[in-house]
Amino acid sequence: VPSPALSATVKSGLAALGIAALVAGVGGVSMAQPQSAAKPGGDDAALDKGRDIFTNYGCASCHSLDDAGATGRVGPAFDENSGLSRDLIVDRTTNGQGMMPAFGGQLSKDEIDTVANYIMKVAKPAK
Ligand code: HEC
Repeated sequence: VPSPALSATVKSGLAALGIAALVAGVGGVSMAQPQSAAKPGGDDAALDKGRDIFTNYGCASCHSLDDAGATGRVGPAFDENSGLSRDLIVDRTTNGQGMMPAFGGQLSKDEIDTVANYIMKVAKPAK
């Protein structure tokens, strides 16, 4: 009859092996993705929605923003733009200015907030 202490040791050893194998198996493939996609304090669904608005409403064709793959050169770049603020984005997007069209008639206030939050979150800080 094996002693209870010995069989407990064997069992916990096996359990540890099992966990190690599981971590190794998962770590190889699927863990890399959520880690790189997650932003600190991020609300990924809202960011995705903001990125969609940015792309679908033509912001990307006039403004550059790395996160959205945007390279427009008509308006100011959003990466490393020291003048950028949430209020400015909401105001320009709602009312336009000069060559910048107003989007207040096409986008709801919520959508404008979403795209403003998105830009503030992903734009590279000014140096
Ligand atoms: C047809 C080109 C065009 C499109 C489309 C466009 N913009 Fe602009 N945007 C401009 C131009 C030009 C300016 C500069 C206006 C000025 O200051 O006279 C500007 C300015 C801005 C500014 C102020 C930036 C700064 O540093 O002064 C923000 C914020 C902005 N746009 C956001 C957006 C967003 C968000 C969208 C999409 C919903 C968008 N723009 C779509 C051309 C465009």
